[in-house]
Amino acid sequence: MSQIPNEFDCFRINQEEDKIVSGLEKIKLEDINPGEVTLKTEYSSINYKDALAATGAGKILRTFPLIGGVDVAGEVLESKDSRFNPGDKVIAACSGLSETNDGGYSEYTRISTEAAIELPEAMDTRTAMAIGTAGFAAGLAIYKMKLNKQTPEMGPIVVTGATGGVGSIAIDMLSASGFETTAVTRKKTHDEYLKSIGTSNIMCLEDMEMGERPLEKAQFGGGIDNVGGDLLSWVLRSTVPEGNVASIGLAGDFKLPTNVMPFILRGVNLLGVNSTTLPNSFKQDVWNDIAVNMSPKKIEQIVTKEVTLEELPEQFQAFLDGSIVGRVLVKI
Ligand SMILES: NC(=O)c1ccc[n+]([C@@H]2O[C@H](COP(=O)([O-])OP(=O)(O)OC[C@H]3O[C@@H](n4cnc5c(N)ncnc54)[C@H](OP(=O)(O)O)[C@@H]3O)[C@@H](O)[C@H]2O)c1
Repeated sequence: MSQIPNEFDCFRINQEEDKIVSGLEKIKLEDINPGEVTLKTEYSSINYKDALAATGAGKILRTFPLIGGVDVAGEVLESKDSRFNPGDKVIAACSGLSETNDGGYSEYTRISTEAAIELPEAMDTRTAMAIGTAGFAAGLAIYKMKLNKQTPEMGPIVVTGATGGVGSIAIDMLSASGFETTAVTRKKTHDEYLKSIGTSNIMCLEDMEMGERPLEKAQFGGGIDNVGGDLLSWVLRSTVPEGNVASIGLAGDFKLPTNVMPFILRGVNLLGVNSTTLPNSFKQDVWNDIAVNMSPKKIEQIVTKEVTLEELPEQFQAFLDGSIVGRVLVKI
């Protein structure tokens, strides 16, 4: 453990009376919660949840103080888990970091056996964190859709919240898996970005007529929804027989006003996606499938920013404003 300096930098979230306060701090390894695997952190990322946690805009942390960052990837320095040896590369994402345990915004990280995922052979730590929790959720959705017999021949997959982190990676992974996509976005000025990440069909939310019929024209093979509410309802009503629609997010609304016709007349399947509740072995399978069968090809276009720990606060506000496009990497 001689490589670890006595003190190092992290971005930590504290509660002072009723207020959330966060910023750079110097800490020692023993200040981090225990874990079987100690990493030299290489990359983390920013997810919407990170912005909520660090600003206090949402109640994410269950205990204080905690280091921020729900995602981390790095090199093993020491391991009490026989699966890992010094020098191995490891990922942790969607596993309680910055919620119940210290997260990835730190030069050194300690993670538990249950959180540690082997970095797939065909992936580097930068790509893993460009994917991160957002991209893992997209990959899990596609994995479940394929298990449920989704094929490219059934028609294009509609992706809502398309310029966001989940939406962008979903478009890229779907293209890599041979699916055509249709992007639904609120942003009228981002056609070039969406084309650059692999979709040519773009629908602007503002101009869309979603109708109110129990079933609309079946124009999509399936869907990946990040928005919820009326938009998810429309996707379900516009999906072909036996198509799969994955519900990932609630960027617009947590409610779902729908009716049973898509399910009982078209056999449409609504798939739930929760990237945190899976057992570690299932997560490993999905990461391996992402690396081999849906490896994103447009990561350089999707990573619109690469920032340092010092630059985190200004990025959080952009997430809360909804002005972020693609994924933001954090280089540690
Ligand atoms: N289930 C899981 O395991 C899981 C994992 C990760 C994330 N999530 C959830 O998935 C959703 C997307 O996450 P993300 O990381 O992609 O977030 P993000 O980068 O902030 O993107 C969300 C996108 O949704 C669209 N949007 C935002 N507000 C909207 C509104 N009021 N009405 C309609 N569209 C709106 C925007 O895309 P356009 O401007 O292009 O429309 C925005 O870029 C979030 O709700 C997040 O909490 C769930």
